[in-house]
Amino acid sequence: REQPKTTIVIFGATGDLAKRKLFPSLFNLYKKGNISEDFAVVGVARREWTNEILREKVCESIANVAESTDQERAQFATHFHYLPFDVTGKESYKQLNELLTDLETEFKIPGNRIFYMAMAPEFFGTIASNLKTEGVTETNGWTRLVIEKPFGHNLESAKQLNSEIREAFNEGDIYRIDHYLGKEMVQNIEVIRFANALFEPLWNNRYISNIQITSSEHLGVEDRGGYYEKSGALRDMVQNHMLQMVSLLAMDPPIRLTTDEIRSEKIKVLRALRTIDEREVNQFFVRGQYGPGIVKETEVPGYRSENNVNPNSRTETFVAGKLMIDNHRWAGVPFYIRTGKRMKLKSTKIVVQFKELPMNLYFDKNKDYLRPNLLIIHIQPDEGISLILNGKKVGPTGETTPVKLDYSNDGVDAGNTPEAYERLLYDCMLGDAANFTHWDEVDLSWTYVDKISKAWELSDKSIPLYPSGTMGPIESEELLIKDGFKWWPIT
Ligand code: BG6
Repeated sequence: REQPKTTIVIFGATGDLAKRKLFPSLFNLYKKGNISEDFAVVGVARREWTNEILREKVCESIANVAESTDQERAQFATHFHYLPFDVTGKESYKQLNELLTDLETEFKIPGNRIFYMAMAPEFFGTIASNLKTEGVTETNGWTRLVIEKPFGHNLESAKQLNSEIREAFNEGDIYRIDHYLGKEMVQNIEVIRFANALFEPLWNNRYISNIQITSSEHLGVEDRGGYYEKSGALRDMVQNHMLQMVSLLAMDPPIRLTTDEIRSEKIKVLRALRTIDEREVNQFFVRGQYGPGIVKETEVPGYRSENNVNPNSRTETFVAGKLMIDNHRWAGVPFYIRTGKRMKLKSTKIVVQFKELPMNLYFDKNKDYLRPNLLIIHIQPDEGISLILNGKKVGPTGETTPVKLDYSNDGVDAGNTPEAYERLLYDCMLGDAANFTHWDEVDLSWTYVDKISKAWELSDKSIPLYPSGTMGPIESEELLIKDGFKWWPIT
């Protein structure tokens, strides 16, 4: 196994992401031997912490990692260093550079540096340009920038941010995180499609009638009202995670499994997305906002009563949409997506609905004997695939019955399944950017989404409300019904 040698600078080391995801992921990599003792992490943030405080926080954040000892955790934490930091002050960058140079000598690291932006996006540009002007990116090894979402608020701001970070880093050294691309079953989409003779020949508009992607959440907006009010579900989930899943499902087989080949196929899908004219947005997209309701047997307030949310807010917490991909493979096949907060369940599923046979000997309108074949990809919380076929009902009736074939990842080394962040961090250390977002993908997805948000901003229609604990507003059901389809129930 390759053990990349690098220092990692975490901007925003006192924050939530570092605590919840980054420290535990690094610890798992360390425990598994994917990184050796030759690594160092420098946490930077505004607060006046010390190495000791950071190390304590690191230990706390990994206290529950299974099968680890106090000693192991303490040893891991010695690799962490803290630097109180002013992102706009040149002096901070000088200190950082000195500290990194010392650590590189101590841990025999050949000048490889990862800069991880885990803080408020308004500083990403400033940090990148200061890293360059103060010489922190000038090393004998490689330097990489990992950048969290949101990558801009619309195309214009994304372009601005991109040009700022491009001043200091090449496109090939920029790792834009979309944590959905680190999920086991999202990565499995390509394997299911391109390693199975059973699916690939059918994966087109001759055999597939529609594809449905749902990513629903129990949680409400929690303490992120300030951010979410300006974002909404379209920017928060559709521009990135949902469109990424669409492109993985719709792309042509890449020539090779390399970063460039995969990205180039995904980009072609985004280029083929049918642009939605502002005037016809209602035919293709539906929004909603959660009202009060019951989630997991608990009464919860509506979105407008949440903290930092305008009591008259028109921000959408739910989006359903119909996407058309105008290329040879997909012409005529709707891709339906829906995502939202405070829904009935926490679940991400993809349902591929196959077309009916041209002549069906078993179909009886009154009895609904036959159902279309479905392939269900379970992304979370369960991981696996199901195939729904038709079989013969046992006995002399001549009727058919749905047969479900299930494959589940549960139990397959479940304890060892790396978390999305662990995988993505490791990929970045190895220089594999296949599961990160290229600028062209960001550009195209904002171009697509901006039209929709613009139309909603200008619309004087009120936003449909849905009770918390449901699958969204009725308009979402109607979106499919008018095409002769329905959302397949998910669990
Ligand atoms: C994030 C969004 O990108 O994804 C959150 O900002 C959302 O609002 C989260 O809750 C969902 O991720 P997951 O992995 O829980 O499906």
